[in-house]
This record gives sequence, C-alpha cells and structure tokens, in this order.
Amino acid sequence: MSSLAAAVEFDRVSKAFGDRVVLQDVSFAIAPGTAFGVLGRSGTGKSVTLKHIIGLIRPDAGRVLVHGEDITELRPRALARVRRRMGFLFQEAALFDSITVGENVAFPLRRHTRLGEAAIVARARQRLADVELSDAFDAMPADLSGGMRKRVGLARAMVLDPDILLVDEPSAGLDPITSREIDGLLIGLRRAGTTLVVVTHNIPSARAIADELAVLGDGRIVARGTAADLDANPDPLVQAFMRAGTGG
Ligand SMILES: Nc1ncnc2c1ncn2[C@@H]1O[C@H](COP(=O)(O)OP(=O)(O)O)[C@@H](O)[C@H]1O
Ligand SMILES: [Mg+2]
Repeated sequence: MSSLAAAVEFDRVSKAFGDRVVLQDVSFAIAPGTAFGVLGRSGTGKSVTLKHIIGLIRPDAGRVLVHGEDITELRPRALARVRRRMGFLFQEAALFDSITVGENVAFPLRRHTRLGEAAIVARARQRLADVELSDAFDAMPADLSGGMRKRVGLARAMVLDPDILLVDEPSAGLDPITSREIDGLLIGLRRAGTTLVVVTHNIPSARAIADELAVLGDGRIVARGTAADLDANPDPLVQAFMRAGTGG
C-alpha cells in the first residue's frame, strides 16, 4: 500500500446477477482527494458499483481496492475497519424513522467509537450545523422535507470524518435550489480533501462537483474524462448525457 495508491480502484471487475451481466471487466482508479462522477441510464450498475466499494457486493471476478488494499477477500472484521473510513449516502437517505434526527447522526458514533455521551452529542450537533440543520436535532425524520432528509443523511455519512464519501443520486427528487445546496456541501467536502464518488443524473451537478466523469453502459465504461473531454466525445450516448439535464 503505497501513499500513491488510488483512493478507490476497480481492477477488471465483473459482476452478474443470474444471467444479467451488470459489470464486465470494469477498471478505473480515483485519485485521493478528487471527485469522481458516475453517469449512466437506470439499471446500468451505478449503485452496484458503489456497493462494491463498500463491500456490500463482491465481484465475481476482478479486484476492488480501497487505498491500495484489496477488499474483495476481506473477512467481516477487516472489512468493517475499511468501511469505517467511508461514508455513504444512499439514494433514499435511509434515515431511521423511529429515532430523532440527532440520534440518526449520532448512530455511527455510538456504533463505531467509544466516545462518551457528551462528545457524541457535540459531534452530532456539529455535523448538523455543517449542513445547516442545527435546529433539527430533536426533530423526527418524518417532519423533514426531502432536501432536509438528504442533508441529515449527509451529516450522518460524514460524522466519522470519512476520507471517502459515496453518494447515490443526491439530487434525485429535489428541487433545483435544494439540489444546488447539496452540490455546495459536496464541493466543500471535496475542497476539504474528501474523495467523492457521486452517482448522478444531474449533469449540471456533475459538472460542478466532479473532477472526472465516467459513463456506464452495457456493463462497461463507455467514456471517461473531464466534463470537457466528454463534451468533445462523439459517442451518441455520451452526447445524449452531456446535452441533457440543463435544468437542474
Ligand atoms: N442484489 C441484487 N440482486 C439482483 N439483481 C440486482 C441486485 N442489485 C442490482 N441488481 C440488478 O443490477 C442491475 C443494475 O442495478 P443498479 O446498479 O441498481 O442500477 P443503477 O445504475 O440504476 O443504479 C439492475 O438490473 C438491477 O436489477
Ligand atoms: Mg441506482
């Protein structure tokens, strides 16, 4: 594991569910501290890709490396150690509805650290303040708007100060203004040195956040590069993506 290791690397990863081939020989590497955007039509394996990075799904062939360490063969305890350095925000924010917003954010601290009660509450409050939801500590998730829930999800994903943050469609279901607020938070994290992997359908968002983009299609990376590279890519699928979604 050299210090030059990619934050995340796929080395010829293949994955099928039954006879449905989702990823076929996919390779890419994400430099530490950069933001990587993943584009692709529904069902092309974007979420499956994120789930490989946190080891929720294991590849049929190939390797997934995190900071140079192959995680595909790790036992649960070792995998938990790697995962602790990652934050993830799933598409549906996936908050626990029966506990308060503050307890949602505190949850990873209770689970993965031995911090005392006062430190846990202080840290959870700080993360809520970071997403401008200081007042929501005692609220229940059901009382929040979609954008607020997303921000709580982000606060929870960041509460352990992960160096890699995985985000699945952060702007799905949000209005353009809220969506830009989420983008702003992600850009701030990236500036602070967090490696981001962001799945998105929102091209303006992808342009704003990502240093590099990859377009998934037919189990492969159809194109990869900066937004400017993809703008200049003649592939019709790439063009369809880059010219779409000027609204958000
Ligand atoms: N755990 C699973 N079991 C079976 N099929 C799955 C599983 N997860 C994803 N798939 C299938 O893999 C394909 C890619 O899914 P996904 O990565 O969720 O797509 P998307 O690009 O929309 O995020 C879909 O056909 C989906 O039905
Ligand atoms: Mg998905």
